[in-house]
Amino acid sequence: MLFRCLNCRGKLQLLSQCRGYAEGIQGKPKLEPFVSINNVDYARDNYTNVTPKILSYLGRNLHREKYHPISFVKRRIENYFYKNFIGRRGNPMFSMHDNLNPVVSVESNFDNLLIPADHVSRQKGDCYYINKNYLLRAHTTAHQFDLIKMGLDHFIVTGDVYRRDEIDSTHFPVFHQSDAVRLFTREQLAAVAGHEIEPFELNGIENEEKQAQHTLEASKLIEKELKSTLLSLIFNIFGGEMPHRWVDVYFPFTHPSWELEIEHNGTWMEVLGCGVMRQDIIKRAGAGDRICWAFGMGLERLAMHLYKIPDIRLFWSKDSGFLSQFNVDDPNVNITYKPVSVYPQLTNDLSFWLPVDREYCSNDFYDLVRDIGGNIVEQINLVDEFRHPKTGKVSHCYRIVYRHMEKTLTQEEVNEVHFKLRQAVVDVLNGAVR
Ligand code: PHE
Repeated sequence: MLFRCLNCRGKLQLLSQCRGYAEGIQGKPKLEPFVSINNVDYARDNYTNVTPKILSYLGRNLHREKYHPISFVKRRIENYFYKNFIGRRGNPMFSMHDNLNPVVSVESNFDNLLIPADHVSRQKGDCYYINKNYLLRAHTTAHQFDLIKMGLDHFIVTGDVYRRDEIDSTHFPVFHQSDAVRLFTREQLAAVAGHEIEPFELNGIENEEKQAQHTLEASKLIEKELKSTLLSLIFNIFGGEMPHRWVDVYFPFTHPSWELEIEHNGTWMEVLGCGVMRQDIIKRAGAGDRICWAFGMGLERLAMHLYKIPDIRLFWSKDSGFLSQFNVDDPNVNITYKPVSVYPQLTNDLSFWLPVDREYCSNDFYDLVRDIGGNIVEQINLVDEFRHPKTGKVSHCYRIVYRHMEKTLTQEEVNEVHFKLRQAVVDVLNGAVR
């Protein structure tokens, strides 16, 4: 079918090639050349991959809802810092920021954090871009540089973050993080060490334990202070100690860097990433005379562990069966989630030949399924890939598991979604259903 839309500058073209149609797949097509978010218009370009479904999560702010497990975890973190870090005049040392705009620039999310131009985390397949200059933040670390530049030196940022990802009980394209930064002046460093200590050296070299600009003594001190703060925070959140281990990792914005893992159902679960912030970042943000630690943690994981919540989609439930279980004023109350009821799953497969005339990644399909199926999609797995020996064409078979969190789905309801999905694979992805 030939089609004319504003987004494509009035050109007549195949419906399946029109991005505006893909964006409007739910409800009436939205064909404006701009993506409008909180009254700001962003011009679409060939980076635009954010969907109306994803945009509908903006403003839900689970971390700011009074009675919600995500906000409880946020408050446990904030309360820990309020209680344990008190300024000279009895004031809280850390400032809290939980209402910063999730739309951030590419500089904030990547460049200012020294994430290289070709780093995998920047790919269109992994992020929700609004256009080539703006995206929905992929981590709350995106605000660190700007806040340091504004003159803050102890702060915590909590917010919703967005990543294109597979679908299962522990992954959702929107989740929440808290990031913290603590900058130390020479005096503050001495106060922690109990004696004068030189933070910087001129002709140093980088090794596993430190950055070139830092003295080993200062780097080790920051590491010790960071790790003990984090362990004490985690034990405080969980109301006691548990088996844990530190794993050496790599982040472009910290060195050295670690992840903390705690034992969860007999396996190791990663709960946070942290490290000594790259001195080049601090210097560019105008605080080069300080040395600094930073960490970031995911709130859903902690909440699932803390309240025994089995499925990440439950956080988005507006059902009173879920929400009423968190109707308490004190975020420290122990709550164990009781499943409202367990409804059966329905499984359908979908196979199609991938488009040959454009880029394709499985996340394109996952987003389409999300747009059409919404939250009744529990899991999607690529179960088979087949390359035709003669034509070289590739076909994917996806297994989609549907389950409603609050009622039993009928096969008819699922068939209806599945039918729309088959249609959209053809219209939007240019695939050929087998
Ligand atoms: N931003 C990192 C993530 O999302 C976590 C992190 C924050 C690591 C700050 C180091 C310092 O995984």
